[in-house]
Amino acid sequence: MRPWRNWQTRTFEGRVGDRAGSSPAGRTIKKMSHRSRSDAIFFMYYVGIRTKMWYDYHVMNESHRNKTINTEIADGKAYLNACLRLEDLAGKDICLIDSLVCADLFKACKYVPDELADLMILDPPYNLTKEYNGENFSKMNAADYEAYTRRWLDATSHILKTGGSIYVCCDWESSLIIGRVLGDYYTVRNRITWQREKGRGAKSNWKNSMEDIWFATKGDDYLFNIDDVKLRRKVIAPYREDGHPKDWEETEDGKFRDTHPSNFWDDITVPFWSMSENTAHPAQKPEKLMARLILASTNKGDLIFDPFAGSGTSCVTAKKLGRHYMGIEKDERYCIWAQQRLEMADTDHRIQGYEEGVFWERNARR
Ligand SMILES: C[S@@+](CC[C@H](N)C(=O)[O-])C[C@H]1O[C@@H](n2cnc3c(N)ncnc32)[C@H](O)[C@@H]1O
Repeated sequence: MRPWRNWQTRTFEGRVGDRAGSSPAGRTIKKMSHRSRSDAIFFMYYVGIRTKMWYDYHVMNESHRNKTINTEIADGKAYLNACLRLEDLAGKDICLIDSLVCADLFKACKYVPDELADLMILDPPYNLTKEYNGENFSKMNAADYEAYTRRWLDATSHILKTGGSIYVCCDWESSLIIGRVLGDYYTVRNRITWQREKGRGAKSNWKNSMEDIWFATKGDDYLFNIDDVKLRRKVIAPYREDGHPKDWEETEDGKFRDTHPSNFWDDITVPFWSMSENTAHPAQKPEKLMARLILASTNKGDLIFDPFAGSGTSCVTAKKLGRHYMGIEKDERYCIWAQQRLEMADTDHRIQGYEEGVFWERNARR
């Protein structure tokens, strides 16, 4: 079933001669018989067909399953028009509840009333040189990044209610600064480490595949719904007491235990191309991660404020979970993607990895 076998063998024989120095490459071709040439043509034809089949199966199939939102400004005008602008904020009767503002947070936050939010989620640019849709964020020295951190903390702190909670996302390096500075504004309660798996390998350093999320509150009387953020884990040692399962349940899918989450999160992947939540934003957070923060620190009807909204993950997740939101994002294209996702959330409330009121392990197909 290998029609090119003869052709391969003959060419090979010719080349053996070449290596021995007895025959130049040109003569190898001349030596090819008529049969060899037709075999060669057939072989190339065969390879061509196989390559096309492979392309159709893998590449075309993949592009059909690729759900990444990457709408251009020209096609997303309606979504952009659904955003508020800085000029709108100055208006008297403007409603900020369930709004996305396309503006610079340092200008927009002045118009946001005191104590609007029950929860603030902030995912600022990490101190890395990174491109956000053509605009570069450049790595600063530590003193400048600290000054930048204080600037956005100053701009936003009036918006959080007394008794409200704040979460701030960082990588390990910005975490050294943000964790310390956050303590000047709020009561720092914990540092969550999210093992996000994906990350670039480094030749002279450890691959960076974790992020920190600082948890702080404004005051001591704060909300924490531990029962709403349980993890459903497969039971490895199914202990029984008097013949009955001890703290675990036997279901059709196997033996499971619902446990309290720790401050180490290893069950959440970054969004990828086959997930409907995925956009082309370079630093998008997963909805599953936002859901855990929102469920722990708010009740239905509460409001979540995010001044670095990006592709809108916190706002979309808030909406899916029956909370209100307000987001600010300065980049128009990201605003379009966020609005597009907010529209999708009108009809689809699913959050990958969170089902039946519990968080499932990574790759649990939920
Ligand atoms: C790390 S990303 C946030 C990603 C977001 N959590 C998500 O899931 O898509 C930071 C975002 O803040 C935006 N940003 C940076 N500086 C800003 C500013 N001064 N005002 C408003 N948005 C800003 C950037 O354009 C970027 O989209």
